[in-house]
Amino acid sequence: MRIAIIGKGNVGKALGSGLEAAGHEVKFGHRDPQERVEDAADWGEVIVLAVPFPAVRDAAEHIGSRADGKPLIDVTNVLDSNGDMALGFSTSGAEELQKMLPKAKVIKAFNTVFAKHQGTGRIGEERLTAFVAGDGQDAKRTVMALSEDIGFEPVDCGPLSASRYLEPMGMQLIGLSYGMGLGVDIGYRLVRG
Ligand SMILES: NC(=O)c1ccc[n+]([C@@H]2O[C@H](COP(=O)([O-])OP(=O)(O)OC[C@H]3O[C@@H](n4cnc5c(N)ncnc54)[C@H](OP(=O)(O)O)[C@@H]3O)[C@@H](O)[C@H]2O)c1
Repeated sequence: MRIAIIGKGNVGKALGSGLEAAGHEVKFGHRDPQERVEDAADWGEVIVLAVPFPAVRDAAEHIGSRADGKPLIDVTNVLDSNGDMALGFSTSGAEELQKMLPKAKVIKAFNTVFAKHQGTGRIGEERLTAFVAGDGQDAKRTVMALSEDIGFEPVDCGPLSASRYLEPMGMQLIGLSYGMGLGVDIGYRLVRG
């Protein structure tokens, strides 16, 4: 598939490398006139949003109607400038993004995984879980298949409002890594008995 990745930082590059290794085409869009958000979003069949949370509204404005009808993967963690969680409980970053781009098919995914492991979906021999939430079933299936192509085990977490749980999971991962000193070679895996 043609995947537009908005944001060319740790996450954008990691997901881009994993998707390219799986045979997908990738085009980046960021605040570089040589790699415009508009051009990437126009070209992509799927759009990945991988910018810092405070930049989401600006990026969404540049994406605009180019995301209409397309899966729009929201990888952001809702960090404010102090590193605290910017919102939650009664909404989520993903649901707020859906309000900004009402015709896009917003899917929350990959925010519970450190960038270091987003290109493989694995830590050593351990396969990580890609927790995927969204309201559009076809779009969600597409994103789950892409995560599987990278190497993750996808798990359907239900509607987009489940992002209210996935976003705190991302915060907890950061807390374990940096607050509790576990480092970045950690990740979540759903175990089934
Ligand atoms: N790092 C992780 O391990 C990790 C894991 C899960 C989720 N996340 C989330 O994923 C997102 C990206 O994280 P990251 O670590 O990749 O950040 P990063 O390394 O700082 O990269 C952010 C990218 O966004 C671009 N950008 C910033 N403002 C923009 C705008 N208004 N329009 C278009 N592009 C813009 C920047 O490029 P230019 O400056 O060139 O525009 C840069 O390429 C964040 O929301 C983060 O919370 C991160």
